[in-house]
Amino acid sequence: MEPANPATIGLFEALYSTRAIRRFTADPVPDEVLFQVLDAAVRAPAGSNMQVWHFLIVRDPEKRRQIGEWYWQTWADYGRQYVEDPSRIDALPRQMRLVVRSTDELARTIAEVPVHLFVCGPKTAAGTIYPAIQNILLACRGLGLGTVLTGFHRRHEEKVNALLGIPDDQEAHGLLPIGWPRDRFGPVNRRPVSKVTSLDTWGNPWEYARTQPEEGLRDRWAPAQPRA
Ligand SMILES: Cc1cc2nc3c(=O)[nH]c(=O)nc-3n(C[C@H](O)[C@H](O)[C@H](O)COP(=O)(O)O)c2cc1C
Repeated sequence: MEPANPATIGLFEALYSTRAIRRFTADPVPDEVLFQVLDAAVRAPAGSNMQVWHFLIVRDPEKRRQIGEWYWQTWADYGRQYVEDPSRIDALPRQMRLVVRSTDELARTIAEVPVHLFVCGPKTAAGTIYPAIQNILLACRGLGLGTVLTGFHRRHEEKVNALLGIPDDQEAHGLLPIGWPRDRFGPVNRRPVSKVTSLDTWGNPWEYARTQPEEGLRDRWAPAQPRA
């Protein structure tokens, strides 16, 4: 699949339509596309501009297979009720059902996703690492790539670090599987601004937000699309 022309996706369309993509095609991700993603990542803000991030690209199939095994073990434990009895997924309310089903599917297939990107930094530097991760999510959206921020590998941190040679003072804060999406992008379901915002004192409503549509202003920037 050809990368989307980034010029066709505006910033706000990307903001409203970037969502967790957990199903991918088998198509490879060219270095030139991945470089653009990381060149966007390093534009993020960093505490004292120290830029302590490190991006570890894993393409090696055997390493991805091993990571996939550990990732699966975490899900098999965390999502045990669904793994042992998949019919429980079907019984969930729609929103939850879609998330659990796609989480389960990624846990079964992550080894096949062509790129595993580990976003690393000092253990105490999460505040600097997460803006870079958000840039990656948006850059992927702009290029037509799918990805999702995941943390399941962290239950196997020591083994992951040994496999990948990650130094002791570093942490893989996020694992982003990157590939060409089979899922559709956005819209995303989020609580409205009015429910999560106060004016002047915590809990004092911001009346302006209450006058705005509950579903937000997405359609101003991107045409409505059915959710996958
Ligand atoms: C800190 C953090 C850790 C996450 N870890 C995982 C994970 O291990 N596996 C996974 O499938 N999704 C993971 N997610 C993705 C969330 O489930 C996802 O962002 C959320 O359900 C919203 O999805 P949407 O953008 O499609 O609406 C994580 C997200 C965050 C912010």
